[in-house]
Amino acid sequence: MTGVSLKNVKKTYGATPVIHGVDIEIDKGEFVVFVGPSGCGKSTLLRMIAGLEEISSGDVFIGDRRVNDVDPSNRGVAMVFQTYALYPHMTVDQNMGFGLRMNGMPKAEVAQRVMQAAKILQIEELLDRKPRQLSGGQRQRVAIGRAIVRNPQVFLFDEPLSNLDAELRVATRLEIAKLHQQLAGSTMIYVTHDQVEAMTLANKIVVLRKGRVEQIGPPMELYDNPANMFVAGFIGSPRMNLITTGKGDGAGRAFPDGSALTLGGEAAGRAATLGVRADQITLVAPGAGAFDGRVSVVERLGDSEFVYVETGWGQELVVRVEGGTNTPVGHAVGLSLTGRTHFFDAEGQALSGVAVSAV
Ligand SMILES: Nc1ncnc2c1ncn2[C@@H]1O[C@H](COP(=O)(O)OP(=O)(O)OP(=O)(O)O)[C@@H](O)[C@H]1O
Ligand SMILES: [Mg+2]
Repeated sequence: MTGVSLKNVKKTYGATPVIHGVDIEIDKGEFVVFVGPSGCGKSTLLRMIAGLEEISSGDVFIGDRRVNDVDPSNRGVAMVFQTYALYPHMTVDQNMGFGLRMNGMPKAEVAQRVMQAAKILQIEELLDRKPRQLSGGQRQRVAIGRAIVRNPQVFLFDEPLSNLDAELRVATRLEIAKLHQQLAGSTMIYVTHDQVEAMTLANKIVVLRKGRVEQIGPPMELYDNPANMFVAGFIGSPRMNLITTGKGDGAGRAFPDGSALTLGGEAAGRAATLGVRADQITLVAPGAGAFDGRVSVVERLGDSEFVYVETGWGQELVVRVEGGTNTPVGHAVGLSLTGRTHFFDAEGQALSGVAVSAV
């Protein structure tokens, strides 16, 4: 099996640059997820790897082979799209084997490969059906089956779950994770704008914004040590709370309502934004925390509750508490930043080694 490497890859449509020099190293057998907001260039990158889109400059390698000028059918990749695009008049069996038959593969071998893929995907009993007789999730499995039968070195998925309803999306996500385990060693590149999909599926996440890589790393690395404010806000649900702190007394700073906050290290004497996740804040009595607020909304999820607290400076922060806590709306509370905090400079880059007191 084979890895993929992108070296200073750029893409320009007419005079408009959309990918601004991207470097990504994907090891063989990795499950890499490209994630980012709509229009950031995820599909364009994937299509350049597949060969469906020309590379304006830079190089794409699949294994040791530079594939810039290699025909899509000779790159050893198979792509699964958001829309399944199955042939309506063909059965599942015929749909899955179509590409192989077109390539002149002997019938018996096609049948064997289709059966093997159907087993992996547990759709053996659907082989004689037409696409219209299938659910959305089953259709997407057939589309994945069409990729598996080609025995590709690299699987490329472009938002394969986004046409499915919420429940089916979770179930199919699990199946794709299992598929990666079963096809041990196969490299998978998966595009989504859903950070939960990225967190749950990836060995390695590539966060993209406006045609640039913001950060690359394992899911928990991005969650625990976001390199900048964009990644901090994008990865993790609910979003990380970001508080812009104002100038305090002396060398320190203060929360926007004037509550004390002293920062040392890289943050001393600079404009800084403090980031804290919902589960790193504790609700305490008014006056007993770093600052005070009032409960505006409580979302009950069963095992936990998201308590939204409006601060004295009018910002809404989210705090995660245990399920069944039943914090009343309108209640005055103090917020104690008991856990991990993050700091970002005026450009949004993470500051390290920030000592915090009075929080
Ligand atoms: N054929 C094209 N001609 C001109 N601009 C294009 C073309 N295809 C894509 N773009 C632009 O390139 C940028 C990246 O598009 P791309 O489809 O890669 O985004 P994406 O990250 O996949 O977004 P989404 O999550 O909405 O699918 C967008 O600004 C888009 O408008
Ligand atoms: Mg896209």
